[in-house]
Amino acid sequence: MNRQRAADLPHTNPLRDPRDRRLPRVPEPCALVVFGVTGDLARKKLIPAVYDLANRGLLPTDFVLLGFARRDWDHGAFEDVAKNAAREHSRTPWRQDVWRRLIGNIKFVPGAFDDDAAFDQLAATLGQLRDSHGIRGNAAFYLSVPPTMFPVVLRQLARTGMADNDRSGGWRRVVVEKPFGHDLDSSRELNALVDDVFTAPDVFRIDHYLGKETVQNLLALRFANTLFEPVWNANYVDSVQITMAEDVGIESRAAFYDRTGAARDVLQNHLLQLLALTAMEEPVEFTADAIRTEKLKVLRAITLPRDLADAAVRGQYAQGWLAGERVNGYLQEKDVPAESTTETFAAVRLGLGTRRWAGVPFYLRTGKRLPRRVTEIAVVFRQAPHLPFVATDTEELGHNQLVIRVQPDEGVTMKFGSKVPGSTMEVRDVAMDFLYGEQFTESSPEAYERLLLDVLLGDATLFPRNDEVEASWRVIDPLEEFWTGTQPFQYRAGEWGPKEADQMLGRHGRRWRRP
Ligand code: BG6
Repeated sequence: MNRQRAADLPHTNPLRDPRDRRLPRVPEPCALVVFGVTGDLARKKLIPAVYDLANRGLLPTDFVLLGFARRDWDHGAFEDVAKNAAREHSRTPWRQDVWRRLIGNIKFVPGAFDDDAAFDQLAATLGQLRDSHGIRGNAAFYLSVPPTMFPVVLRQLARTGMADNDRSGGWRRVVVEKPFGHDLDSSRELNALVDDVFTAPDVFRIDHYLGKETVQNLLALRFANTLFEPVWNANYVDSVQITMAEDVGIESRAAFYDRTGAARDVLQNHLLQLLALTAMEEPVEFTADAIRTEKLKVLRAITLPRDLADAAVRGQYAQGWLAGERVNGYLQEKDVPAESTTETFAAVRLGLGTRRWAGVPFYLRTGKRLPRRVTEIAVVFRQAPHLPFVATDTEELGHNQLVIRVQPDEGVTMKFGSKVPGSTMEVRDVAMDFLYGEQFTESSPEAYERLLLDVLLGDATLFPRNDEVEASWRVIDPLEEFWTGTQPFQYRAGEWGPKEADQMLGRHGRRWRRP
């Protein structure tokens, strides 16, 4: 049906049809229970996201935010903490009336994760909220807790019956934060445990990169246009570079980070998900399972070069300078063991065993204390097979590139050759830019805002499935094994990683982009 006719039909009037996708969907009445609500994630992301959703009118009137943590707080004390978090970190402007409506719906239950009585109290509170706040037995449990605590909390949810879909027809969902396990075996154990307590469609594994606007735009760019797809393959693409660079160090997360390292922290999830979206085939429909199935095929097709010494580099930052300030090396960071060999930088070359991508290297890199915060996907095209110009006129001509900037300055840049004005035929690279901030007046929702709303709506499209998680660990495990017992290469804070990462590409006649 063409667009004109569809617009003429009365049932497409957004005011009449609640199923119209242009109308924002609002979840059913429900509670969001956050375990570990005193942690950084809750303070900086989850509570502000709840406020932003309320501010945008996207929460049901009958909504309760229920915090659970080991603090001697009453509801009032938690309200104050939540208010400060929302004021400090929310994206949308502060509106007292929105907050006033929310505070009646913010509750707190104190307790430790292994405290049966506290969980019994939580279950009782949820029961009371059904009557007092009309939540109809719907609840999502957000596990913002250290991975070692996942099993403990899950068992409590099972023991108290809170994990079971409510007798009255209310739904129960669980949200698990990454890392999903530490390796393939532990992720399988965790998946088995979660699937034992909740049914698969009620499990939401958060990879917040999938909630970022530009990451979703990658699908629009590829599948809503005719321009890119025909050249999106080994015939035209020389290589793909995916970079997630951060200027921050490990901040106050030594206890977590030193056990984890860059490969497990972000390569296993954010970067492999970006790779999957870049390389996947068109899904048969835009539904959670169709998209996840296509991503899974990519993840399963990933190949690691036989000689990992030629294809994998890890590094650790040493003391250096960033933005004019002297910053500590990793080993001087608070609570990091003096002998630690944990990597803060990782770069790998992966292949894909598919007809579309055979022979195209996918270079992935991530690091802390790099010169700037930037995440991008760069598709680097092959050079023209023949240049009918005088050789010296094309010395400055590089590869055509399509760069999708995930953050900051969200947008897309196309790099191609252009004639330099003048009487010679000199050709040089130029860039054509699309910037979200210039084209659209609306600002993008925060990733957590989008993902929390999707959990409450029960839309799993942007959440990796357990088979994707396991396929990703199959890529990471051999790397970790290869690195075991080795020392990471050093790089100075403020540099783009160790020189060995440059050499890894240099040996194959390529260079990392300088984003
Ligand atoms: C998290 C990692 O998943 O992503 C952190 O655990 C990292 O180490 C963070 O700093 C980066 O997220 P963003 O959205 O700021 O790019």
